[in-house]
Amino acid sequence: MPNRVSEEVIEEVRKSNDIADVVGEYVQLKKQGRNYFGLCPFHGEKSPSFSVTQEKQIFHCFGCGKGGNVLTFIMEIEDFSFYEALKFLADRSGIELPENTIQNQNTISTENQNVLTAYEWVTKLYHHLLRYTKDGQEGYQYFKERGINDETIGAFQLGFAPNAKNFTSEFLEKKGYHQQILVKAGLISLNEDNNISDRFRGRVTIPIRNHLGKTIGFGARTITGQEPKYLNSPESELFQKGKILYNFDLAKKHIRRQNEVVLFEGYMDVISAFQAGVKNSVATMGTSLTEFQAKLLRRYVDTVIICYDADNAGVEATYKAAELLRTTGCQVKIANLRENMDPDSFIREYGDEPFKEEVIKSSKTFMSFYMQYTKKDYNLRNEGDRIHYIEDILKQLAMIESPVEREYYLKELSNEYSISMDTLTQELQDHRQKMGIHKDKREKNRYTNRVSNLQSSARLLPAFQNAERQLLAHMLQNISIADKVQEELGASFNVDTHKVVATHLYAFYEEGHEADVSRFIEALSDSALKQLVTELAMMPVSEDISDREINDYIRVIHAEQSSMKDIHSLKEQQKLAEQQNDPIKAAQIAMQIIELQKQLKNIN
Ligand code: CTP
Ligand code: MN
Repeated sequence: MPNRVSEEVIEEVRKSNDIADVVGEYVQLKKQGRNYFGLCPFHGEKSPSFSVTQEKQIFHCFGCGKGGNVLTFIMEIEDFSFYEALKFLADRSGIELPENTIQNQNTISTENQNVLTAYEWVTKLYHHLLRYTKDGQEGYQYFKERGINDETIGAFQLGFAPNAKNFTSEFLEKKGYHQQILVKAGLISLNEDNNISDRFRGRVTIPIRNHLGKTIGFGARTITGQEPKYLNSPESELFQKGKILYNFDLAKKHIRRQNEVVLFEGYMDVISAFQAGVKNSVATMGTSLTEFQAKLLRRYVDTVIICYDADNAGVEATYKAAELLRTTGCQVKIANLRENMDPDSFIREYGDEPFKEEVIKSSKTFMSFYMQYTKKDYNLRNEGDRIHYIEDILKQLAMIESPVEREYYLKELSNEYSISMDTLTQELQDHRQKMGIHKDKREKNRYTNRVSNLQSSARLLPAFQNAERQLLAHMLQNISIADKVQEELGASFNVDTHKVVATHLYAFYEEGHEADVSRFIEALSDSALKQLVTELAMMPVSEDISDREINDYIRVIHAEQSSMKDIHSLKEQQKLAEQQNDPIKAAQIAMQIIELQKQLKNIN
């Protein structure tokens, strides 16, 4: 187990990295009153609901709920572990972490660390061979013929594994690596006769990097037409295809800047696209897009452009990926590749600019892709089928939020199938009603208005919940209020998470800490709790609150508790009466319950 970094060190790092400065390096912040506002980097949005306070040294997004202190921010935005974030911020402010923290605080096992360093050596070795030696010449030639230039070869650390049985194993064993580790890492293979040989020999190697840029595997392509076309490193704890997107590390900052990512199917597509100037490119690696990957992308962007091969298999995969991304909340566009082309061959045949302009920038909306895609399921010359097809499209259209977009496709349908706009509009409305979409829309408005709701007045929560939130907000700012509440209420909040926050907060103050939200967040390990605490801390509460107000809050909380208890026991009695076949008694109890619930509403 890693040693803990001392609290003092964490404090020093936190204090010497002002949250507004650090966040400002990622988000454009504007000062408004005491706080800074900007567009949330963790979810797509058009109007700013992300705020930072220097005073409290925390950030919070009223839209997606993310929040925390400067360390949490770096962990989130860079996908860092706690120690990586600490190291990052320490470096940023010129603080040296004690020796042992850096070495021992690693969250990965020694064995995995060995695998990582072995891959690092081999990445460099294969790249060097390809780039500068005769042994790697065939590999270099191969990439050249595919139009890959030296700069790109360097950026992706492309390499060549020489066609010798024990070249790699000898190289690594000299460096002190055990055969066992290398076999496990998949760098060398163990044959049936227990002999070892270099796994990737005679192939060009494409290092697969994790989000921190460390090689965790290779995709090794044949250059002689051997099967399989790609030989990949085996799946392991470090290398899980379903969790990794190829090139995510290099693409990340471009993805964030453009609020858009281009998703490909293969290594070579990404490499070519990157060289062509489409730098926000990532790929899955021969498996369909997973929910994990979709969610990862959602955290970074609003829009995903799918750029898969335009053959049958590619179109099917496009549909599947698009549906998954849409359920995750991404806008999906489909790159405009000509039939039966793949991205890499398009670039080679037509060049970089046409790829950017005619394929990526001319992406189709999901809807227009879908209208084309679904045709395969119907025989459109047959009237019955045609009607079903139109129904199918209308159902999809019903889910589109933008009225302008809906109308656009309705017109298209109307023209293509000579159906009046009135009829189509009516049908579409019916679908929307059936799907309960009107309700959704109200919900959505409430959501976008959330910032102003939250900031101007209490949310539409039951009074006891508001009381609990208000109290906690005050307790976070003021030890003496926390003391008073601890005495009179203890941890008897009604909402479970509020209980937990209160308990942690009492402990935090008992340890002798000042009221310091940013630091308190550090003491919490659960990220949902951290978010709740930042949300509470961002609530605008007046600094001088009277004892009477506090007592009022406590009273509301108590009242809720006792009524809930009463109602609970009445419900038990009601059940009993029913079991004893005493409908009159059961009905009387039901009346009492209703009465109590009414009273509860009145207090609230
Ligand atoms: N793939 C694989 N093993 C194979 C074939 C494919 O792992 N035998 C994965 C690779 O990640 C590959 C992706 O599936 O990048 C897409 O396959 P394909 O389109 O065949 O490969 P490309 O990357 O387009 O490679 P190339 O242009 O060299 O054919
Ligand atoms: Mn391909």
